[in-house]
Parts: sequence; C-alpha cells; structure tokens
Amino acid sequence: MDFTELYQKCDDCTSCPLYKTRTNLVFGCGNTSAELMFVGEAPGEREDATGIPFVGAAGQLLDKYLTAIGIEREDVYIANILKCRPPNNRDPLPEEADACIGYLREQVKLIKPKMIVCLGRISAARLIRQDYKITREHGEIVRRGAFAMTAVYHPAALLRDPSKKEDMLRDMKKIKAYLDSIK
Ligand code: URA
Repeated sequence: MDFTELYQKCDDCTSCPLYKTRTNLVFGCGNTSAELMFVGEAPGEREDATGIPFVGAAGQLLDKYLTAIGIEREDVYIANILKCRPPNNRDPLPEEADACIGYLREQVKLIKPKMIVCLGRISAARLIRQDYKITREHGEIVRRGAFAMTAVYHPAALLRDPSKKEDMLRDMKKIKAYLDSIK
C-alpha cells in the first residue's frame, strides 16, 4: 500500500462512528520520509476544520519548539492516534483507538522514521507502554526495533501549565541530540 491508497482507505473508513461527526479526515502531514515523527492524540476543532494536525494553539506551540531546536515542521511527519475528531474534544475511547491504530502503523511502515515522539500521555500509553507515566518518564529514549521512541508533554498541557515548558525544551533538545548522534 502506498500513501495515496492508505489515505483513501482512511477517508473511506467506517470502523468507528467518528467518521459521521467529523468535518475532515486528519490523516497526517509533513515529510513522508521523515527521520522524526510526532504522534498526538486526536484532532481538535481547528484540525477538524482544516484537515491538518496540530494547527491550533497547541500546534503553534509545537512549531515554536521545533524552531527552537532548528528543525522545520516540513522536515518531520505529524499524525495522531485518531484520524477523526472526537466530539467536543473528549479523550479517544479505547475502541476508537483500536479501530484507528492500524492506519498509524501503516504510516510508520511507509515513513520508516528513526524516532517516534509521542505527544502526551494518551499517545505514549498506546505506543510505548500502557502504564506510561508522562511526568516521570518524559524525555527517556527507548529503542523499539528499527526506531527509537520517547514521549514529551502534550503542547496543550504546556499551555495549561507553563511550568512544564523548561522540561519540554530539555526533552526537545535531547531528541535533536539523539538524531544528530545517529547520523
Ligand atoms: N491535539 C492533538 O493531540 N492532535 C492534534 O492534531 C491537535 C491537538
């Protein structure tokens, strides 16, 4: 399956009810050969309206961290666990994530990133370990077969609690240093 076929499959998906209430599919965006991939939780209002992940306030903050470590948004790939917005931005239901995660796995297979960064606890619990403790483990890099993984605070959490911003910058610098070290 190539990216176009995968996109079409997602667009046609009826595996959970969220396709009925979404405005746009939020498939993912960026460099399809990226070394670095970010995975958030689910599209919010702005993402649903535009079809692009992380374009709202949280996304703009993520962009600032990318700039701070000298990486362009166009160089990375950004996706979510869910490709359709849950109504009123509620947390994804386990059955919605179960229905959607296969598409993310296909994206990872096509992109073959060197590192996957989970944005927030919900993404980390799905992709790294179910009982992942974001406050304790953020920024720890673990190897998973062909790629490395880590999790950082969700940018929306930084907007709610700016005291976490220092940790976020440290984690993002660590991610950049890791990528530089494997060049
Ligand atoms: N929050 C997410 O987890 N993903 C988005 O795309 C936007 C906000």
